[in-house]
Amino acid sequence: MQITIALAKGRLADKAIVLLEKCGIDCSELKEDSRKLIFFDRKNDVRFIMVKPTDVPTYVDHGVADIGIVGKDTLMEANLPLYEMADLKFGGCHLAIAGYPAKRDNSLTTSIKRVATKYPEIARRHFAKKGESVECIKLHGSVELGPMLGLSDVILDIVESGRTLKENGLVIVEQICDVSARLAVNRASLKIKAKVLKPLIARIQQAVEET
Ligand code: PRP
Repeated sequence: MQITIALAKGRLADKAIVLLEKCGIDCSELKEDSRKLIFFDRKNDVRFIMVKPTDVPTYVDHGVADIGIVGKDTLMEANLPLYEMADLKFGGCHLAIAGYPAKRDNSLTTSIKRVATKYPEIARRHFAKKGESVECIKLHGSVELGPMLGLSDVILDIVESGRTLKENGLVIVEQICDVSARLAVNRASLKIKAKVLKPLIARIQQAVEET
């Protein structure tokens, strides 16, 4: 029975491959320099797709991929009914609101009006929970430019080393939560392909514990 694993291109990809190899999955095709979009480990009957991080939850939700490896931030934004079966303990960073230092001391209720972010759903939910209504401005990258150019008052973004904020004169106004890579699983696949998926998920969970 073939299973399909969706991997997020970019900062999580290399570590996801290391983890899968520890679990006995042959990822050699994924490491080749190629423009292919579908890869195989024929021995283990695994098919891989390499997609944009934001598309990983979509493929898993539709059951086109049985499993996805993607950041918690992306899962939170997608807000789809997937099983989150493991914290893979890599790609650690946090979600935070950031802005110019003066914003830190002001009451958020009065100071925040516009939030530039790659995560408008997380932002909407976060501020709604606090009873604050904000305008979310969706950007696809270089979000820090928002306050710098007057597009927004603050940003909601992931912070890893904090270097991008620092080098652009921004500070954290509010921490939201820690995020890291997660193992997301399609609900129906977990039942239909249980014989193959459950042992693989267990191997992944064990490999994470051993690192
Ligand atoms: C992410 C994030 C920040 C930066 C944080 O951007 O949106 O800009 O990394 O990392 P740091 O705290 O270590 O500086 P990414 O590198 O994914 O590029 P992007 O801005 O094009 O989305």
